[in-house]
Amino acid sequence: MIDLRSDTVTRPTDSMWDAMHKAPVGDDVFREDPGLNTLEDKVAEMFGKEAGVFVPSGTMGNQIGLKVHTQPADEVIIDENAHIYHSEGAAAGLVSGIQLRPLPGNRGVLSASLVKEAIRSHNDWDPRTRVVAIENTSNKGGGTCYSLKTMHELFQLTRVHKLALHLDGARIWNASVATGTKLSEYGAVCDTLSVCFSKGLGAPVGSMLLGSEEQMKKARRFRKILGGGMRQAGMLAAAASYALDHHYEKLDADHLKAKKLAEVVAASPFFDIRSEHVETNIVLFRVVRGTVSNALDWFASRNVALIPFGGNTIRATFHFQISDNDLEQVLQAVETYNGA
Ligand SMILES: Cc1ncc(COP(=O)(O)O)c(C=O)c1O
Repeated sequence: MIDLRSDTVTRPTDSMWDAMHKAPVGDDVFREDPGLNTLEDKVAEMFGKEAGVFVPSGTMGNQIGLKVHTQPADEVIIDENAHIYHSEGAAAGLVSGIQLRPLPGNRGVLSASLVKEAIRSHNDWDPRTRVVAIENTSNKGGGTCYSLKTMHELFQLTRVHKLALHLDGARIWNASVATGTKLSEYGAVCDTLSVCFSKGLGAPVGSMLLGSEEQMKKARRFRKILGGGMRQAGMLAAAASYALDHHYEKLDADHLKAKKLAEVVAASPFFDIRSEHVETNIVLFRVVRGTVSNALDWFASRNVALIPFGGNTIRATFHFQISDNDLEQVLQAVETYNGA
């Protein structure tokens, strides 16, 4: 099956398994896993942050990030398409006792003017705005990237109002490659960020929360409380490190494939897409003739797995285990689709 459902479906390559197999390990709850300590330092340095805490998932990275910045009854401003808002099981309420304030951004991207309007006053009855949380790239927005300028404006706004800016950077690697922005430039315009090794980079497990020493000290404690303290996790650190060293450089090829698919989808009378909206590895398109389930069945019968993405939208996501040949087959499936 050519699996375009997500960039999380990749399998470790032989070389990645090899790196995992050879990883030196120790008990990370005692901070004794050498590979993990090295990875946390390495990634923190890449983003220009003081420290990092390895966590099992992007969800845990985001939720600990919010927890570090908030007290119960605080409010977090967020885009209405955000993963934190839609796909983390309302964990912000459960874990931090906070409220999310979703705003209608542009394909998952918030502007400083929109956010400014939403910052609360200080009346007794007002929730306390504490955090602005942004997602780069925006998954539900269709892999959209923030410009550094917009991020900078948001960061400045949060300084003026004494708020924290948290970045859900599950696919920040894709944003960096697509826009030519350095990781350290992203790190300079947020307080905390959560990054994933298990999306386009292709590690089997693992994310990291990054921020100041003080924030990460708190984060390490919350990670333990949530049951995310791991023991000999060096094998996971080895996979993440391998992914950074060997798969990061392949993301551009995923983006080119996504663009190619978007062009072919745009030429089909059965689908609707603005191909210029495809900026990274995610392609969202709408079924305008026939049904989503018919279309998904058609693709499945051509050995292509896609995922329904709400309403009449379908998502295709590229990753390094999709070959040029695979892409050709996907394009053929689009071109021959007759709506039946
Ligand atoms: C933008 C974004 N943030 C966070 C996550 C959560 O990552 P995880 O599935 O590792 O919890 C995802 C997962 O797909 C995501 O797309």
